Amino acid sequence: MEKLILGIETSCDETAAAIYSTTRGILSNKLFSQITLHQQFGGVIPELASRSHLQKISTIIQEALDAAFIQPDQLDAIAVTNKPGLPGSLLVGVCFAKSLAYAWNKPLIGVNHLEGHVFSALIENQVPFPHVCLTASGGHTSMYRVNGLGDYQMISQTRDDAAGEAFDKIAKLIDLPYPGGPVIEQLASQVEFKDFFHYPRGSASLLDFSFSGLKTAVLYDLVKRNAYDMTTKRFLKPNDTLFKQQVASSLLVAIADIFVNKVSAALELHPDVQAVTFVGGVACNAYIRSLLEKFCKKKNRIFLYPRAQFCTDNGAMIAFVGGYKLQQHKIDTLELDILR
Ligand code: KG4
Ligand code: ZN
Repeated sequence: MEKLILGIETSCDETAAAIYSTTRGILSNKLFSQITLHQQFGGVIPELASRSHLQKISTIIQEALDAAFIQPDQLDAIAVTNKPGLPGSLLVGVCFAKSLAYAWNKPLIGVNHLEGHVFSALIENQVPFPHVCLTASGGHTSMYRVNGLGDYQMISQTRDDAAGEAFDKIAKLIDLPYPGGPVIEQLASQVEFKDFFHYPRGSASLLDFSFSGLKTAVLYDLVKRNAYDMTTKRFLKPNDTLFKQQVASSLLVAIADIFVNKVSAALELHPDVQAVTFVGGVACNAYIRSLLEKFCKKKNRIFLYPRAQFCTDNGAMIAFVGGYKLQQHKIDTLELDILR
């Protein structure tokens, strides 16, 4: 029987809500992005993020219901991201979801944000189990072995920065706007994704990721090329477009190579997996996707990724997880909080 789930996501800088039908798929997916709010600071400011969620959440949820032509009484459950994320931002979504669950008398389901990403490739695709999921966003970079719906284990993670964070921090070093990932991809495409500066990739056989070394290597390389002043912390070639393209391209190629190496190491350890999924904001990157796709083809594995609106933070992935958790009777009480 069809179940209808409202999914709410406010863990970072997107206020998002979506309606998922267990038989018809995603019926609506609405979002307010706070990017312009945080852009002037070069990163997310937690206090501004939570205030903005408070201003937008009611409208976004109403828009999601309207776009799906669903009345609140038709809903079967309310799913909400309850961890991990910025505490103030998470609290807005969780408190709002609890109030709705209480007022509308609906089951409440807390969803781990990372579980949302891990299963986002399944929203519109049949992905065979077991598979490996590579999650790469601004806050997280990890790989999981996924055995079934809700059944997954982390097999590696980053020891320091996330991949998206590396894009964002290095973009900042060379005066590019936040978020860095999309701009870096655009600049790299203008020089045909060539590897100009050969930044280090780290150990290929290690399963864990590490991006802080790459950031330091890029920084020292910039200094060596007289492009960065360590004392004033200033980029010295702001008008040299070709140089920015070369840094961007070399960085993107290095990160793409690192991803291929890590997925390769994961397949060595888990030879029974049939597919690889690539999810999270960084999975919007068409160059990285093409390299992973080529690699998986060579290894006879299916390669799948969600469409862009399900890669970056969204309510659809939360509603989707809410859908199978409801069917698995994994319901929470109104005691749900952001710590447990
Ligand atoms: O999943 P997401 O929207 O938010 C988090 O949960 O962090 O991911 C945002 C991250 C940012 O670091 C951004 O630079 C990166 O995803 N990103 C990209 C691209 N689009 C977004 N990185 C590389 N290439 C892209 N095209
Ligand atoms: Zn995310």
